[in-house]
Amino acid sequence: MADGSVVVVGGTGGLGREVARHYHEEGHPVIITGRDHDRSTQIAGEIGDGMTGLAFDLAEPDRIGDALADVGPVSRLVLAAIARDNNPVRDYTIEGAIYLTTMKLVGYTETVHTLLDRLSDDSSVVLFGGRAKDRPLPRLDHSHHRQRRRRRTDPHLGHRVGTDSVQRHPSRHRR
Ligand SMILES: NC(=O)c1ccc[n+]([C@@H]2O[C@H](COP(=O)([O-])OP(=O)(O)OC[C@H]3O[C@@H](n4cnc5c(N)ncnc54)[C@H](OP(=O)(O)O)[C@@H]3O)[C@@H](O)[C@H]2O)c1
Repeated sequence: MADGSVVVVGGTGGLGREVARHYHEEGHPVIITGRDHDRSTQIAGEIGDGMTGLAFDLAEPDRIGDALADVGPVSRLVLAAIARDNNPVRDYTIEGAIYLTTMKLVGYTETVHTLLDRLSDDSSVVLFGGRAKDRPLPRLDHSHHRQRRRRRTDPHLGHRVGTDSVQRHPSRHRR
């Protein structure tokens, strides 16, 4: 494994916290992030000694650079943060849509961009996906029959697109 810290964005809860715990127990330095500094620090302490908690909101991408300024070399970057958004067309709010798209499309990318110079050729970046396995885009579905059925039962295309955008890109970092 590459030298450096494991950075888990969205590491204060759920799957991200488990990923953080896993790497901590393997003896790697781990940094977790959430939106609130006190909460991140507290949860980092609960996972174990030597853990670090940082805070930034992915929907405020201008602040990501400063929030990660003190992070050194990174061996693993895990993007596991998620907003539990349900913004269907009938009750659509632009505010909610802008928040989510900023978080996912700008915030995730800005996080990788910010840390790019701290990743080595052996580092990796993993994006956790949402519900794409349940609601795949048509091009991802091998069965036309299942495809049509899902289209009828799921009118919230925007939601599908939102989750799919982060589903299928676990990748090794290459500069
Ligand atoms: N849970 C499952 O069974 C499951 C299954 C398959 C895939 N997934 C995917 O795995 C990923 C993680 O899911 P999860 O269930 O583990 O999520 P979760 O328990 O809801 O955790 C969400 C994390 O994201 C952080 N977060 C939320 N909004 C944020 C924002 N605007 N900026 C920065 N951080 C933010 C939270 O931090 P704070 O609350 O501390 O701010 C928390 O650490 C998601 O992409 C999900 O779709 C989950």
